[in-house]
Amino acid sequence: MSKTFFIETWGCQMNDLDTQRLSGNLKLRGYQRVEDETAADLILLNTCSIREKSEHKVFSRLGRFREMKQERALTIGVCGCVAQQEGEAILKRAPWVDFVMGPGNVGHLDAVLDGGRTVAVDFPEDRHYDYLAIDRPSATKAQVTIIEGCNKNCTFCIVPTTRGREVSRPFDDVLNEVRAALESGRVELELLGQTVNAYRCPISGRDFGALLRAIAELSDVKRLRFMTSHPAEVSDSMIAAMRDHANISRYLHLPVQSGSSAVLRRMKRLYTREKYLEIIARLRDAIPEIHFSTDFIVGFPGETDDDFAQTLSLIEEVRYGSLFAFKYSPRPGTPALRIGQPVDDAIASERLTRLFELHEQHKRERLEGYRGRVLPVLVEGPSRHDPDMLAGRTDDNFVVNFSGDPSTRPGSMLGVRIDQAQHHTLRGQVVA
Ligand code: 5AD
Repeated sequence: MSKTFFIETWGCQMNDLDTQRLSGNLKLRGYQRVEDETAADLILLNTCSIREKSEHKVFSRLGRFREMKQERALTIGVCGCVAQQEGEAILKRAPWVDFVMGPGNVGHLDAVLDGGRTVAVDFPEDRHYDYLAIDRPSATKAQVTIIEGCNKNCTFCIVPTTRGREVSRPFDDVLNEVRAALESGRVELELLGQTVNAYRCPISGRDFGALLRAIAELSDVKRLRFMTSHPAEVSDSMIAAMRDHANISRYLHLPVQSGSSAVLRRMKRLYTREKYLEIIARLRDAIPEIHFSTDFIVGFPGETDDDFAQTLSLIEEVRYGSLFAFKYSPRPGTPALRIGQPVDDAIASERLTRLFELHEQHKRERLEGYRGRVLPVLVEGPSRHDPDMLAGRTDDNFVVNFSGDPSTRPGSMLGVRIDQAQHHTLRGQVVA
């Protein structure tokens, strides 16, 4: 009987893709993936350490696996950013864990499983990226890493520690992976990187705009997305590529973190409020239909009522399509630990609530505004709620459930008239 593995994933798209790579590798080795942890011979936790909460979850999960291990043979590996951050300390705290492997070693799972390495938290020069073995969960969409790590030093952020220094993949290597994904029928591509728009080919020096162009021009690319962009890396060449290619999504994730220049300076975000708004204006000038999503941190050390009022007014000004916001969480070894007074937790919670309330209004208005309009929708398959309907996504990533020909192929792009805006999703019908 073949061996089985169970893998649990937290955190960002990068981690999702690392899971796809680990899973692909294990399947090549003859393992079978199971969704029930009690049926697995190997359990991998692909962890996230961006905030403290995610970190705590890991140890409570490990406690549960300890009990399972007392009853049968089981191998347990901790992967991802908590693995990178804690390394050896995980084995000390949870000695029933068999190995700890950081994001730099995703391409080197063999060395861990066969070579008996128990702590693999380096960033090997040889990144070993086996893109043909990625276990992609979607038949229509492929995520492709173009740059790993981050050279920004935002004072709140653990990523430079957990994912290392920036390394871009060679241009042709990326294109080969993209072509392979297209050949396998995927029509939507999402380029990934912690600072995706800092991409620069290590061989030819070609930049992110050049890469966007080259990919957008390949036939069969119906939608091209990318994340996460850093505002300070938005370049004319990136904007021009987006302007010139309608298959590049007009929906840009551009994390701002705060609307106050004073807070942004303490965060070391490398832009002011004014500069950020100027970048938004440049993008809107070139691509009038563009809209944005973003991330905020509330309760950053020293954030005053006035700083927070500026965050709300920035949201008013930009009117985001979607927005993610988090209470500041102190991370080990980050410079923010030494900055200013922590904000009282009750105040931070209240700010978070007010921020979401404001955004919710904007989002409602946007969704309501779609009523009666025909939007291009990329079909993903039958609707989860009603198998007689189809489901797909708009360019701004909202799910649309709609009536249409049930034999429509996933990956088709259709015009859908929106007739209902629900809480987070839209409903409509195909137009001829
Ligand atoms: N505390 C709270 N939120 C954080 N983020 C990153 N680091 C922290 C932290 N220490 C948020 C930022 C980032 C998103 C991925 O997570 O908003 O854009």
